[in-house]
Amino acid sequence: MKSSSLQKRLGLGLTLGMTLLWLGGTVGAWLVVQHELNEAFDSALEETAQRILPLAVLEISNREAPREAQHIATLKMHKEYLTYLVRDAEGEILMQSHDANPKIFNKRPREGFSTTQKYRLYGASALRNTVFIEIAEPLNHRREAAREALFALLLPLLALIPICLLGTWLFVRISLRSVLAYRHAVEARGVGDLSPIKVTRLPAEIDPLADAVNHLLGRLRKALEAERSFTANSAHELRTPLAATLAQIQRLRHEAPEGPLQVRAAKIENSLRELARLSEKLMQLAKAEGGGLLSEAPQDLIPLLAHVVDEWNHSSGQRIALHLPSEASVYSAIDPDAFAILLRNLVENALKHGAADQPVEVSLTDQALLRVVNGGPPVPEAVLQHLTERFVRGNSEASGSGLGLAIAKTIVQGVGASMTLVSPATGRGEGFEVNVQFCKHAAR
Ligand SMILES: Nc1ncnc2c1ncn2[C@@H]1O[C@H](COP(=O)(O)OP(=O)(O)OP(=O)(O)O)[C@@H](O)[C@H]1O
Ligand SMILES: [Mg+2]
Repeated sequence: MKSSSLQKRLGLGLTLGMTLLWLGGTVGAWLVVQHELNEAFDSALEETAQRILPLAVLEISNREAPREAQHIATLKMHKEYLTYLVRDAEGEILMQSHDANPKIFNKRPREGFSTTQKYRLYGASALRNTVFIEIAEPLNHRREAAREALFALLLPLLALIPICLLGTWLFVRISLRSVLAYRHAVEARGVGDLSPIKVTRLPAEIDPLADAVNHLLGRLRKALEAERSFTANSAHELRTPLAATLAQIQRLRHEAPEGPLQVRAAKIENSLRELARLSEKLMQLAKAEGGGLLSEAPQDLIPLLAHVVDEWNHSSGQRIALHLPSEASVYSAIDPDAFAILLRNLVENALKHGAADQPVEVSLTDQALLRVVNGGPPVPEAVLQHLTERFVRGNSEASGSGLGLAIAKTIVQGVGASMTLVSPATGRGEGFEVNVQFCKHAAR
């Protein structure tokens, strides 16, 4: 299942929640506003009627022909907002405002408030229910006021929705910055780096997770260390008895009379040598996996290289051709011992598995690229990919345990370099080539 984004979920959830709450609030506020508006309008209507009524009564009683309806003239023609009728109890019109339409009023005058489809009416009486005034106000007016109030309440929502979305998005993004930093810290880890991951100020919800991860790393580190120290210790403990047995068997071989006994002693001696080599390789692997492969100060690779090649040339009858860079020194931050172990394994392989009649070429470039090339039948791509695994051997006839390239790979990874196996060797139809690209340091 695809994991959903917290940013998206929070953004949408909060915006939706805010919108719903706002709408609820708006409806409540609007109902109250509408009620208050109605009250205000009603009281204005009543007030007006009560004001006009005594004046109308005075005017009508002063007339000579009182039963004649009269339109109140205005000083200036205008569209009336409130209209009124003054009638007697039978509904006979005595007086009306100039714009008044009698059809909109009740047939018979009625006291108090009433509402028709389009008007709000108010009636009052005077002179013991003989003169009635009725005043009408179009409902449109109220409805418009209510509508405007509603718009005023809803309008901010238009701005609030994008602000809320953007705000949450930004806020979550900022809050999760430390989580992102944590992720980068985890991703940037080298293979063998199991030290605790330190990231400052993680959110309180994530902090326990980081602690748990560090805990786990700690346990893993301890388990691996135990495994490594066991390998190293076992190999180390084997050394002395192996050497002693080897010495004994050599003496036995010399002292034995010519014949099958001597041949057997020679076989045992060979097996013991193999065993000693295996234990040596196991120790190298344990050392390579134990870390501490980087040196504090950058090392000049050239003298280290020259030294190891010299050593091998002595024992191999000058089969190795060394090509050094034009620069006087090439620095890289690798522990000299680790570099020697790496190089020894590569050169040993080239001498052991390569064609015996061809030289082994070892070269270092200005860019800190180490190449070890030897002749021999090419190794198929499918086999090549697995040669760096532990105890994996190719179709070579020479003896070995299959640990050399695994040791080389572990060291290369531990110092942040990269190793590639190429076969056939570049620019040739056969052979085997190992390239190791070190991180070059400017100088000491
Ligand atoms: N320079 C080379 N030329 C040809 N084949 C090689 C070369 N280096 C390694 N190989 C092949 O890769 C296999 C694995 O090499 P690796 O160094 O890991 O083990 P090994 O040399 O057989 O044993 P060990 O190094 O433990 O004594 C070898 O068995 C060999 O088949
Ligand atoms: Mg080897």
